[in-house]
Amino acid sequence: QFTPRVFSGIQPSGNLHLGNYLGALKRFVDMQQPDMETIYCMVDLHAITVWQDPKELAHSTRELCAGFIAAGLDPDKSILFNQSQVPEHAQLAWIFNCVARMGWMQRMTQWKDKAGKNQQNASLGLFAYPSLMAADILTYHATHVPVGDDQKQHLELTRDIATKFNHDYGVDFFPITEPVIEGAATRVMSLRDGSKKMSKSDPSDMSRINMTDDADTIAKKIRKAKTDPDALPSEVDGLEDRPEARNLVNIYAALNDQTVEQVLAEVGGKQFGEFKPMLAELAVAKLAPISSEMARLMGEQAEIDQILAKGAEKARAIAAPILQQTYEIVGM
Ligand code: ADP
Ligand code: NA
Repeated sequence: QFTPRVFSGIQPSGNLHLGNYLGALKRFVDMQQPDMETIYCMVDLHAITVWQDPKELAHSTRELCAGFIAAGLDPDKSILFNQSQVPEHAQLAWIFNCVARMGWMQRMTQWKDKAGKNQQNASLGLFAYPSLMAADILTYHATHVPVGDDQKQHLELTRDIATKFNHDYGVDFFPITEPVIEGAATRVMSLRDGSKKMSKSDPSDMSRINMTDDADTIAKKIRKAKTDPDALPSEVDGLEDRPEARNLVNIYAALNDQTVEQVLAEVGGKQFGEFKPMLAELAVAKLAPISSEMARLMGEQAEIDQILAKGAEKARAIAAPILQQTYEIVGM
């Protein structure tokens, strides 16, 4: 009944890093297949649920768009656009605000984490975030949503909203979306602490490789990455309780489209003094062309804005009729 359609979004909130590349952008590019419609969105409406400086938000939105394209996303094969330029997201989110229950939102662990102890002072938007996310997905009748582990609960809520809407109005209108959860293997950890995710919000710039880092910076960060004194094992079991070693091997495997087993078969027995330069060379080979293409695109803002405008037009062509049908079902 529903055509296979992938939707995913990323917040334009700055500091795109290797984790975003391997865990999101690269996977999104890989999903760009002839029999799959792929829709990727810069979710600026989600970003402003917490304070964003207006100039930085505008910059980060363009930088994220540049990152997508530099990573290999083809705006002719995928729909690439900015959420606020497609008003159907916010319009459908309002309908879903009236379908979702307060109790559902209150259970969300991300709400509890992000609002912290001072829930009374969090924005109403932060509370309603999952309902906007449901609208992002369902306004395209998306069937597949690649997300990180931390978004799994929100995706379940999307299914709950679709199910309740279909039930309340006696229709079979919204699909029950399948999550495509990122495995632990694609989770990139901090270069300074193997127990923490590589993150844009880590205060230490040495903890992450930014997608805008040049070759020298990438090589330096890998050289200084935390490791242990032992040689690399030749079996995966040997990486147990060695989070930093495991992380560097994972990164190597992901960048080289290999499995961890394949990498260890080649590098088992080597010391980090030998492995780190190999990793640095690979990372530079894969990432330097991306960062230079991002820099080029950031010098061509009109080109980026045009890509986003075209993407929004294509997105609206799908979203507007679905919103219209939703309104009719609701009696509006
Ligand atoms: P951050 O966690 O740095 O704030 P986001 O939450 O904006 O980044 O994540 C954007 C996308 O990148 C999501 O799909 C998320 O799963 C992915 N992602 C973020 N950090 C990592 C990481 N360290 N490893 C793998 N994927 C990641
Ligand atoms: Na996150």
